[in-house]
Amino acid sequence: MHILIINGPNLNLLGSREPEIYGSQNFETYFNELRSRFSGIHLEYVQSNHEGAILDHLHQAGIAADGIVLNAGAYSHTSIAIADAVAAIQTPVVEVHISNVHARETFRHHSHLSAKCVGSIVGLGLEGYALAVSYFQKIQGGKTD
Ligand code: DQA
Repeated sequence: MHILIINGPNLNLLGSREPEIYGSQNFETYFNELRSRFSGIHLEYVQSNHEGAILDHLHQAGIAADGIVLNAGAYSHTSIAIADAVAAIQTPVVEVHISNVHARETFRHHSHLSAKCVGSIVGLGLEGYALAVSYFQKIQGGKTD
């Protein structure tokens, strides 16, 4: 099973960016932990600060991956193009937000992506990514290719 994690803008700064909101662990360290926890799964991770690059990753993983975990950062609240891409591909997408966006500024309360994703995990910190991967593992019935 092949799962792609896509992180959007500013998420390359995890660890140093507003640690009181996003925690103090960087994503690369967490991703290595995820790889050990899910050693039977082909886990891949990409990050981009560019909307078009995120679209390209979604299109490619829409063919190549069995599941996509997407944290589109602030683009979640603004990007109809990313919502359209999620709707256009066959691969299921789980939306993740590290922080509880509903407990923050009102402009973070709405995500254009949520309705196009199979589900959303918000406010559970980095562990949200592991929960999303577990979900795919469960629904794919432990496919190992
Ligand atoms: C975020 C929440 C967004 O509102 C914010 O713009 C981010 C991170 C999160 O993971 O909590 O960049 O997606």
